[in-house]
Amino acid sequence: MGQPYFEINGGNRLKGSVRVSGSKNAALPIMAAAILCEGEVILHDVPYVSDVLSLAELLMKLGVDVERRSDHSLRLVVRDEMNSHAEYDIVRKMRASICVLGPLLAKRGKAQVSMPGGCAIGDRPVNLHLRAMERLGADIELVSGDIVCKAKKLRGCEMFLGGPFGSTVLGTANTMLAASLAEGVSVIEMAACEPEVVDLANFLNTCGASITGHGTPRIIVEGVRELKGCEYRIIPDRIEAGTLMVAAAITNGELKLENCRLDHLMAFVDRLGAVGVQIERKDDEVSVSSSRRLEPIEVTTQPFPGMPTDLQAQLMTLLCLADGNSVITEKIFPDRFLHVAELGRMGAQLRKEGPTVIVQGVKRLIGAPVMASDLRASAALVLAGLCARGTTQIHRIYHLERGYERIDEKLRSVGAEIERKEAEGS
Ligand code: EPU
Repeated sequence: MGQPYFEINGGNRLKGSVRVSGSKNAALPIMAAAILCEGEVILHDVPYVSDVLSLAELLMKLGVDVERRSDHSLRLVVRDEMNSHAEYDIVRKMRASICVLGPLLAKRGKAQVSMPGGCAIGDRPVNLHLRAMERLGADIELVSGDIVCKAKKLRGCEMFLGGPFGSTVLGTANTMLAASLAEGVSVIEMAACEPEVVDLANFLNTCGASITGHGTPRIIVEGVRELKGCEYRIIPDRIEAGTLMVAAAITNGELKLENCRLDHLMAFVDRLGAVGVQIERKDDEVSVSSSRRLEPIEVTTQPFPGMPTDLQAQLMTLLCLADGNSVITEKIFPDRFLHVAELGRMGAQLRKEGPTVIVQGVKRLIGAPVMASDLRASAALVLAGLCARGTTQIHRIYHLERGYERIDEKLRSVGAEIERKEAEGS
């Protein structure tokens, strides 16, 4: 079978209603949390994207039964606690597998997780995760590329989780997961404030954990003896919502987004407003439209509540069409610019200077064959294809399918000309 790719004929104005899926980055650590729970966990609004399916596969190897129930629901229940080894074949596919570290250590006394390597968006160290596990009382060794953590009993403590680029999202998640079953109180200073961290804390509290301060840089976790299962709905995916907002703006269209939390996207909405995009909440929907010229802006990615790094590439595509020069600075992953060269193939005028890109607005982008490189860079190329003159072919779309559910169908339903095809003979 040939490699799938997207073919887009650009230029259509998008119009209509789209439902935003549940959040991938909230679903992943919440699924891993099932390792800690005594009873069954039922999750609603889980996006069926390949990262979720990879984590489900890993959890099954770790003795958790994962059943897809009705539409977008998962039932997870621990069947067997013998295996605590997350092997390289899955961890290398998906870095977020690291979020089984805290639960395995806290519940089973041992976690062996293959050390994640770098990835397309740059170095991705896990030193802060390990520092937290050590502070909670784990002994840590590196054995043949695996992190091996052991602890008979974890003990609550105070810890500072900041690194050179600020707070860590999955590091905070891992620490909350482990500290939930530790003896005593843990205080996490410089905790990540992202909505996905808040969703995990809310889930754990529904299971019987005692967590306060989530959504602020100081989270307090009082360890409990046991967590039960619960039924829980995952928050909407703010990054998918932001991507769809750009799709509306870049095609001079008008989209209504269902299941969209504007309070999770304040910084992004502020920047889109400065560009000239209109965003309003009407009843249960958020309407996004743009019909006038786009203004250039300056923007810097930051931890929440700042502008998310996961929307930097998509915003860059929009700014390619602004009337003047924009400046984008990446403060979370300074090398996250693989989309720059591919956008250049479509006529974008971009100049990279260290962690900053100067975007010189052009009149139009021009369709071309391009290569997806990581999840969000791929989304930026889809957006470019939607507004480009002519045909764009986006190869290696498996990157996109890691985090966007049926994006081609969703875009087609609001008027885009996008098709999933298979390359012959490759
Ligand atoms: N960092 C360290 N040491 C650590 C951990 C992180 O120095 O031990 C650094 C990172 O290198 C980076 C910064 O801290 O410079 C922030 O990284 P963070 O740990 O917050 O990233 P993450 O938790 O591994 C999650 C999302 C990413 C998103 C980032 C930042 C998931 C599954 N992944 O990653 O999402 O970009 O937070 O918001 O939640 C995506 O969905 O496309 C994606 C990459």
